[in-house]
Amino acid sequence: MTTAKIIDGKAFAAKVRARVAGHVARLKEEHGITPGLAVVLVGEDPASQVYVRNKGKQTAEAGMASFEHKLDAETPEADLMALIARLNADPAVHGILVQLPLPGHLDADLVINAIDPAKDVDGFHISNVGLLGTGQKAMVPCTPLGCLMMLRDHHGALSGMEAVVVGRSNIVGKPMAQLLLGDSCTVTIAHSRTRDLAEVCRRADILVAAVGRPEMIPGDWVKPGATVIDVGINRVERDGKTKLVGDVDFDSAVAVAGAITPVPGGVGPMTIACLLANTVTACCRAHGLAEPEGLTA
Ligand code: GUN
Repeated sequence: MTTAKIIDGKAFAAKVRARVAGHVARLKEEHGITPGLAVVLVGEDPASQVYVRNKGKQTAEAGMASFEHKLDAETPEADLMALIARLNADPAVHGILVQLPLPGHLDADLVINAIDPAKDVDGFHISNVGLLGTGQKAMVPCTPLGCLMMLRDHHGALSGMEAVVVGRSNIVGKPMAQLLLGDSCTVTIAHSRTRDLAEVCRRADILVAAVGRPEMIPGDWVKPGATVIDVGINRVERDGKTKLVGDVDFDSAVAVAGAITPVPGGVGPMTIACLLANTVTACCRAHGLAEPEGLTA
């Protein structure tokens, strides 16, 4: 029995953060510019609070300015829109992230599309979605960007490879498919309604799982030697304990795949690392400076 190479996302994310920090230091030294990231959190969703705390910490560790705006869960839409307008106009802010999900009375599409696309470090604004879809220079969503970096690092060129993305969300599945297409893969987007999903998955040289269903993809859906990128982060109860598992059944898949990302410690740590990378990219573009190499799509 073979065992897949485990792709260490924690170590890779640390390398990306170090590269970002180096670029931030150069921006300060040579141009007197400090990249700044503003994070907006509305309400008290516990998972969001954890994300936002980690983002603030890692932003500061990379030498960037971190601006946190915590708003009451009942904040009127007009107040949130006014804050975004202020951040759009603030030259010290190069990246703006509005933490999702937003409370139900707020229209997430309206809010996201109010962000200056040049500062949209999440890559969720319709302008960035359109730019990515047409192969133009965009801000690229952080999680798919992290997956792409890991795939390029493992394979070198991805050209001609058969890629299957399971999941069609705007945050992961769709942009992931666009990025793989941009690297000349043959791309299939599969989802919960796909007929004979097992058969479709077995075609994949690159299998990206982003469906949000614990251990849905077993090892016998994986082509021998394939690279498996597991984006899922699902909390399950096992033997009276809470455990984090991916969308792939790791134990059976690791025996078949050529390489696989574990959960935790795979894709997860790459998301914030890519957020920092996007903030540096946005800062360089805002000042007409050369972009950091290897940190963009
Ligand atoms: N909530 C969970 N993940 C994300 C993310 O990557 N960006 C934003 N804005 N909200 C999130």
